Amino acid sequence: MSLLKIIYYPDKRLRKTAKPIKKINKNIIHTIQNMFDTMYFFSGIGLAATQVNIHKQIIVIDISKTKNQKLVLINPIILNKHGNIQTQEGCLSIPEKYGIIPRYKTIKIRAFNQQGEYFELQTQNLLSICIQHEMDHLIGKLFIDYLK
Ligand code: NI
Repeated sequence: MSLLKIIYYPDKRLRKTAKPIKKINKNIIHTIQNMFDTMYFFSGIGLAATQVNIHKQIIVIDISKTKNQKLVLINPIILNKHGNIQTQEGCLSIPEKYGIIPRYKTIKIRAFNQQGEYFELQTQNLLSICIQHEMDHLIGKLFIDYLK
């Protein structure tokens, strides 16, 4: 297991925009594994590469209680979105801060998995919120920005 160093607000590097991945090579696969290790270690449900100072469009998520339902999103885009939902959010990069954040209830996304295959996923509630939160990281946006 290897842990990556999480960068914390107000570090300016959290504001960088992540670049799309052109080729999923061994290095990317290794990064994904380390991101999962780091996310699980800190009891998170999602982690964007930006948070470990890697400015590439990679997100790892696992919202399961059993911590065995890994979801990898590479170069994700939102195809459609609707409805509204608000819940309390936190972030591994902003310890001990929480806020009620407005999100779309349902989203449909398209992304690559780590095998380099495109997939589409329609999801709602917690997973939808988590994906929106992590996709914000890839464009340098933090949940606290919604509170201003
Ligand atoms: Ni976050």
